[in-house]
Order: sequence, then C-alpha cells, then structure tokens
Amino acid sequence: MIRAFGGLHVGHVRPLLLISGEILTFLYIPQFLELLSYPTSLYITSQQNKTTNTYSHTLMALFLCFLIFLLASSATACDRCVHQTKAAYFNKASALSSGACGYGSLALGLGDGQLAAAVPSIFKDGAGCGACFQIRCKNPSLCTKAGTRVVVTDLNHNNQTEFVLSSRAFTAMAQKGQGQQILKAGIVDIEYKRVPCDYKNQNLAVRVEESSQKPNYLAIKFLYQGGQTEIVGVDVAKVGSSNWSFMSRNHGPVWDTSRVPQGPLQFRIVVTAGYDGKWIWAQKAVLPVDWKNGVVYDSGVKITDIAQEGCSPCDENTWS
Ligand SMILES: *[C@@H]1O[C@H](CO)[C@@H](O)[C@H](O)[C@H]1NC(C)=O
Ligand SMILES: *[C@@H]1O[C@H](CO)[C@@H](O)[C@H](O)[C@H]1NC(C)=O
Repeated sequence: MIRAFGGLHVGHVRPLLLISGEILTFLYIPQFLELLSYPTSLYITSQQNKTTNTYSHTLMALFLCFLIFLLASSATACDRCVHQTKAAYFNKASALSSGACGYGSLALGLGDGQLAAAVPSIFKDGAGCGACFQIRCKNPSLCTKAGTRVVVTDLNHNNQTEFVLSSRAFTAMAQKGQGQQILKAGIVDIEYKRVPCDYKNQNLAVRVEESSQKPNYLAIKFLYQGGQTEIVGVDVAKVGSSNWSFMSRNHGPVWDTSRVPQGPLQFRIVVTAGYDGKWIWAQKAVLPVDWKNGVVYDSGVKITDIAQEGCSPCDENTWS
C-alpha cells in the first residue's frame, strides 16, 4: 500500500529538508526582483501615491517571479537527462559487490551482475546506492545503440572516468562478437541517463544488518528500491503506534537508530519526488517482533516514482 502524505500529517520537522534547491531559489527570488524593479518603482513613485506604488511593485515582482519560475522549470525539468563521460571496467564483479554500498553478494541479484562504481556526484554520500543507469558507448562500430543497464553498488575514487563497470556490464554495451574488442579498449566514451529500476516481482525489502543489537540498536539496509528516486528519510514505529523514531543514514543504503520501538515494526520512508518529497508507508508489520539479524524482510510496498532532475539536454526517447 502506498500513500502520499500531506505535510500536515507529518509528526516532526525533518521534511523541511526536502525543500529542494529550486524551491529555495524560488523563495529568494522576490528579494532579488525587488532590486531589479527598483528603477521602475521610482518612476511610479513620482506619479502615483505610495499605496499604489507598493501594490504595483509587489504585483510586478510576483509576475516576474512567476515568469522566471516557469522559464526555469520548463527549460530544465527532465525525467532523463543525458550526460557524456567515459567509463572503464573492473575485472572482478566481486570488487563491486563488496563496494561502498555494502550490498555484498546481494548486489548480484540487483543488476544481474551489471554493476557500477560511480563518482561522488552520482554516489551522493550513499543516497545514489541502488540507482539504475542506462549506459551506451559512443563508438557505433563497437557498441549497440541501446547500451546496457547498470546498478550503482560502489564509489569510484578514480577521477579519469565517471563510471567503472563490472566487466559483464562493460561487454554488454558491445555489439555481438565485439566483447573482446571493447575490453581491449579499456576506457570508452559513453552517454548515460538515470532510468527507473524495475524489480518486477520484488517489493522493497528491508534487511536487518548484522550490526543490530536487540533491543537497543537497529540497522537496516534497503534492497530492490524501484523507480527513480532517492530515500531521504526513514522512520520506524511499533505497528499501530504513532510514536515514530527517526532513523539516520549510516552509510549507503543502511539506516540505523538507537531508539528502537519494541514489538512488530512498521516503516515510513520519504523519497525525493520531483522538486518535492513523498511519504511511502509500509504499514504492516515489516519486521516481526522477533526480527533477526541477517534476515531480509518484505516491506509490502513498491517504490515506482520518478523524480525529475534539472538538466539539459533531456532524452527525447531517441534511445530506448
Ligand atoms: C586526477 O587526480 C590526480 C591525483 O590526485 C591528479 O594529479 C590529476 O590532475 C587529476 N586529474 C584530473 C583530470 O582531475
Ligand atoms: C516513543 O518511542 C521511544 C523509542 O521507542 C521511547 O523511548 C519513548 O518513551 C516513546 N514515547 C512515548 C510517548 O511513548
């Protein structure tokens, strides 16, 4: 069951963090416009009384503000931004599965072994773990037009390429019979775009981490996060209770708390959704009262939302 919550239902103030850069910019624009429209307001002052002046001044600021907001959002909001960069590969998929996101052997179940290490701007301190990307190499004699899909499981510290792919993902970009050739090339020019992760028969899952210590410390890892969003907040409560404890991002997809409610546990998750956030509520007992370390539990919810990003150019569906 997926429910979007209005801000008023939210029991604490953390959702304020969800106000994105765009909205903050929007809020600050009126002050900026006040300066811009200053000469006009001087002119008006000389002809009309003070009240009218303030009124037209405000109206003009609002109007310009609205215009700029419209222009800004129409020019840059995209489901799929296309970026140009380079990619290299790792010989061992195991290097990536034991990567900074800490998926371990579960990583292979995320992307069919098509894994990637991404630079910090994509890794986003771990919020980018589990994000899916479509990547194609730009050499048409070597690579297919469609390219391949990868899942981020690691941080790439190397500054020569934005992505380092598992060799399986790297060769999956190649035309039939060109696998050895692309490996020989080592580093290739690529285009990439974020795409929704699609876990058809798999709900969002919660794995209780080994570091958890009943009853005072709970660490969980999210798996099979579909859609094209980032988890930016997690709360946990006993089923039926509205006494929510917030969890903090420990690293990558791992969230923890030392205020562990007793009993069967439900979760509330905030994901980025466009320029806003959205609550997703796993209302049933996701963790049973006798939850155990190392066990993966089904949350009963799927995340399928897509958050737009600001960029140019957008993908015009020229590439499937
Ligand atoms: C990459 O990092 C190395 C060592 O930190 C540095 O010498 C080099 O200039 C960097 N290259 C680029 C393209 O930033
Ligand atoms: C809410 O939950 C926390 C953590 O389980 C607990 O310490 C606290 O006493 C609870 N507060 C109320 C009012 O039940």
